[in-house]
Amino acid sequence: MPQKKSDKVNQLWGGRFAGSADELMQTINASIWFDRKMADQDIEGSLAHVEMLGACGILAPDGVVKITAGLRQVRSEIEAGDFEYDAVREDIHMHVEARLAEIIGSVAGKLHTARSRNDQVATDFRLWLRTALDHRIDQIRELQAVLVARAEEYHDAIMPGLTHLQTAQPITLGHHFLAYVEMLDRDAGRFIDARNRLNECPLGAAALAGTAFAIDRHQTAKALGFEQPMANSLDAVSSRDFALEALSASTICAVNLSRLADEMVYWTATAVGFGAFSDKFSTGSSIMPQKRNPDAAELIRAKTGRIAGALQNLIIVLKGLPLAYSKDMQEDKEPVFDAMRSLDLCLAVMSGLVGDIQMNRQKMAEAAGGGFATATDLADWLVREGGKTFREAHHISGQIVRLAEQKSVRLEELDLEQMRSIEPSIKPEILEVLSAESSANSRTSFGGTAPDQVLLQIKKWKERLS
Ligand code: ARG
Repeated sequence: MPQKKSDKVNQLWGGRFAGSADELMQTINASIWFDRKMADQDIEGSLAHVEMLGACGILAPDGVVKITAGLRQVRSEIEAGDFEYDAVREDIHMHVEARLAEIIGSVAGKLHTARSRNDQVATDFRLWLRTALDHRIDQIRELQAVLVARAEEYHDAIMPGLTHLQTAQPITLGHHFLAYVEMLDRDAGRFIDARNRLNECPLGAAALAGTAFAIDRHQTAKALGFEQPMANSLDAVSSRDFALEALSASTICAVNLSRLADEMVYWTATAVGFGAFSDKFSTGSSIMPQKRNPDAAELIRAKTGRIAGALQNLIIVLKGLPLAYSKDMQEDKEPVFDAMRSLDLCLAVMSGLVGDIQMNRQKMAEAAGGGFATATDLADWLVREGGKTFREAHHISGQIVRLAEQKSVRLEELDLEQMRSIEPSIKPEILEVLSAESSANSRTSFGGTAPDQVLLQIKKWKERLS
């Protein structure tokens, strides 16, 4: 978008000015190049405002009709891409009003009765963010549904569960996917909270003190789908904590996505080979013909920086700002727009990646049995069947692991006599608990990794997400 300079005086506030603004003044002042994103919300707000002015007898019916028709025309011009932007008109609010005046003449000047750009911009921004949050919530639900479907497919696929990235205990892949379904549910909850808390209407707070006109703020709040008008005019024009809240929920969501993205990078690593993306979600290397890179997952991982950066950005803009409005607040929009767009993309792509990845059951199962992953099962058996305390059992199991390591075999490949040389009370039944599969199958406590538990959780999620 060319940011052309204008040598005109601003028509909307230029009464006390004799000359036009310096080019640099216009450049730093204009927000139109980004706040034009809120054109729709701006016109919706104006339509509600003008209707209310009419209902309250502040504006004659004839004026209401003309302004309403004019605003609709402005809206269709913007939608058609047939609209001229000019830095001298600063922002979307003044663009709409100035164009309205060109279309319907001086009656357009009545639209701004009993309001200010301060309550107008706060209203537009809340409306814009409300829609964005609703969309993010839908996208999270979609991603959860894809994860649940893959969890069902892999509910009994054994893989190594890790701590410190070291083989810890066998788990099922279904269980692993469901961990992200839980996390994402809390993300959705934070977005829902933020959405509900921001859903109060600043319109009618005017510049900062309210207005002497007998307006009906409840009417405009209702018309715009808000719960109620904001109760304090100073708070209405100056608070942006709703945007901070949305950004902090977005940052947490992005952090959660980055963890799944990172695990996908790990699973698809050549040396690991647990999974592979299809051609749809892989990229090649310009020099190494064998490469199949997980760029999309890496970019989701990286975009967390950008989203967290947006939160930092707005926190610093708002810190120490006195009531009520300061122009600093114009800097609230770009970080929010950027973070919402990035998160939109990350959620959409993550749904694609989760749906696409093909996991290798055999490779995962082989790895799950390595690393003496059932050493805890051995210790548990010694407690349950051998009457040992857990500490004694831990010690014995550790000695048996060392023996297996010396012989370069898996735990379940040791023969009974070898184990009995360390702990004479060991019985043949021990061999049944030492495979990765029986280890995972035995974790039947609520929320555990056993396929039966996973299926129970899948049932719950399917009901909740339908
Ligand atoms: N473009 C401004 C913003 O985004 C609109 C409000 C301007 N208000 C004012 N008092 N200058 O914050």
